[in-house]
Amino acid sequence: MTFKHLFLSAAVACVLCGCSSADRQKRADDKFVENLVSEMTLEEKIGQLNQLSTYYVAEYMRDEIVSGRVGSILNEVNPETINAMQRMAVEESRLGIPLLFARDVIHGFRTIFPIPLGQAATFDPELVELGARVAAEEATSCGIRWTFSPMVDVSRDARWGRIAESSGEDVLLNARMGAATVRGYQGDMRRDNPTVMAACVKHYAGYGASEGGRDYNTTSIPARQLRNVYLPPFKAAVDAGAMTLMTSFNDIDGIPATGNRHLLTDILREEWDFEGVVVTDWNSAAEMIAHGYVVDKKDAAEKALNAGVDMDMSSRAFVDHLAELLDEGRVSMSRIDDAVRNVLRLKLELGLFDNPYADTALVNATVYDPEHLAAAEKCAGESAILLKNENALLPLNAKKCRRLLVTGPMADAPWEQLGTWTFDGEESHTVTPLDALREKFGKDVEIIYRPVLEVSRSRATRAQLDALTSVARGCDAVAVFVGEEAILSGEAHCLADISLRGSQSDQIKAARRSGKPVVTVVMTGRPMTIAVEADNSDALLYVFHPGTMGGPAIADILFGEVVPSGKLPVSLPAMVGQMPLYYSRNMTGRPASGTETLVDGIAPKAGQTSLGCTSYYLDAGFGPLFPFGYGLSYTTFEYGVPETDRQSYGKGDVITATVELKNTGSCKGVEVAQLYVRDLVGSVIRPVRELKDFKRVELAAGESRTLRFSLPVSELAFCGADMCHKVEAGEFQLWISGDSASGEPVRFTIE
Ligand code: GLC
Repeated sequence: MTFKHLFLSAAVACVLCGCSSADRQKRADDKFVENLVSEMTLEEKIGQLNQLSTYYVAEYMRDEIVSGRVGSILNEVNPETINAMQRMAVEESRLGIPLLFARDVIHGFRTIFPIPLGQAATFDPELVELGARVAAEEATSCGIRWTFSPMVDVSRDARWGRIAESSGEDVLLNARMGAATVRGYQGDMRRDNPTVMAACVKHYAGYGASEGGRDYNTTSIPARQLRNVYLPPFKAAVDAGAMTLMTSFNDIDGIPATGNRHLLTDILREEWDFEGVVVTDWNSAAEMIAHGYVVDKKDAAEKALNAGVDMDMSSRAFVDHLAELLDEGRVSMSRIDDAVRNVLRLKLELGLFDNPYADTALVNATVYDPEHLAAAEKCAGESAILLKNENALLPLNAKKCRRLLVTGPMADAPWEQLGTWTFDGEESHTVTPLDALREKFGKDVEIIYRPVLEVSRSRATRAQLDALTSVARGCDAVAVFVGEEAILSGEAHCLADISLRGSQSDQIKAARRSGKPVVTVVMTGRPMTIAVEADNSDALLYVFHPGTMGGPAIADILFGEVVPSGKLPVSLPAMVGQMPLYYSRNMTGRPASGTETLVDGIAPKAGQTSLGCTSYYLDAGFGPLFPFGYGLSYTTFEYGVPETDRQSYGKGDVITATVELKNTGSCKGVEVAQLYVRDLVGSVIRPVRELKDFKRVELAAGESRTLRFSLPVSELAFCGADMCHKVEAGEFQLWISGDSASGEPVRFTIE
């Protein structure tokens, strides 16, 4: 009996019982899966739980595939090779179960979008969803049907290289962007749609809290903070329908996530009803040996499977040891069968049993499609954050700025501007800022290019810097492109010093010495300490590695074709010593006021209690250089004081909050209005502000609009002293402002 007969018999049964189409589908699926599981040998079942990376040629994989000892393959992107391996599975293995091919398609496949941290700066979930859809169409055209994205790790330490892959420090922003990315990848979820790519929400959980911002490091996350900060973005992605989830490398308070039953079963399966596939991170099952949590790979296989892992990525712990563990009664057949059912259902829902092969006619048909490039450029444009614009230097006027000096290691770095995790991006398609400035504005403006530094870490001689100053004197403005190469952020690429390396800072000063206006563009994978550079720049544009079309996006902003609207998804620190740094902090019992005496202002022989005893650094104060949510425009916006429709609310009510927003400047612009709340007194102390909603609003010059937000009171729930997730009565403050540090609050009460 073939799959089709199995399937049809199940479907007929459902028609007879008169249930809904969705129910029919589920019952048909369940029957199909049960029949298949009942036919599988133990080796074939365990094979479905084994994922291998193919750095080998297809032939080496033949034995594993034909024997049914592998269920998924990652890192193969050649569609011919994918189809060759798939034919081995479908046509030569005993049961013909198709393989699932996976790849890290993190922020684009061929058309590379800004890194996720940059996409977060757009505060535009719809655009992020579009970017994920573009990535899915390009990747699935090559046979990739599963991506290991979105990463929704709340990240509050700029030293951690993987902050680049996150949506930054805020819970809601990670949740909204993660859910949007899941929707984009998975599209209409139709199993006859070959562009559906299974999302994998990662890294579950708490990876962003790696101590010291050092990758793979231990985390100490209290159970309540796990619930209130680190888990909500995962829940949002699961609720958005994520088909799979990945365990993280880190331990939480001594238990590695890959062996953490409370995370993987109690919460994920029993509380959240997640029915998808849980895959380990690369070798993370075997890495529990190094953690000191298991004695060997056999022990690792037992701990991971019993915790709730379904598929083992690359360690071979499952395929080498589960049969033995079953014999010894250390794992159960029912747990193995449950894991196999999850994997088979995933393949069924992706339509692989009916349509297992990549359509070679479609291969690359969509990559670099002009619409894809336009979407990537729009995203890069919306992701750019204007932090300073002294005397409205920007936008440059091509009629007045007739000679522009372009300098710095990031002005023409096609590979670097793609950012981290771009396995399949091609620098030959990158348009750099230099390319774009020449192409778009070169007719009216003479673009003089003096990189001076080859890479961000290069050192320049005094003579080279003086020469730069001299060239600058003959120009009308200088654009200095600094930052860091792609390799300096991302997995395992953590930095204890997050200042601009090499002679980049000297380069900005050399430009400054010319007396000409200086625009500094920072292109990077993380928040960096740029206080000195900000002081030495008339205008400052912060762009997280912007991807393939970063050049045109930046050039259009510099010359005013695009008005910047990006907002910081992370706080920019004054000094790295402030890490971890985030706006949604607790007040402490001795909050700093911002007027404290700093180290250079302390009088000699100062007495022990002569300085304010509050929570701040003598050398850095306590706040960020630029706060979360901050970003300027070429116009200006003015907020009124927000109002709520009532003074007090019940726990089932919806708060309507309004504010008057006016464009008080001279050009059209987009403002990201942000709604924050503070629960003034709780059964546990609550953050000074929490983002609860945001809206991108376009206003013409002089236009005023009443913005309306609807905030269900249920969104104010949190895990309190009794560890229950609920809303607590009391006084609240509410802001609607342009960043996390400004605005006048209004009060309301929850009864
Ligand atoms: C890596 C990363 C994970 C990625 C996986 C597969 O080590 O931690 O994010 O998806 O391995 O490449």
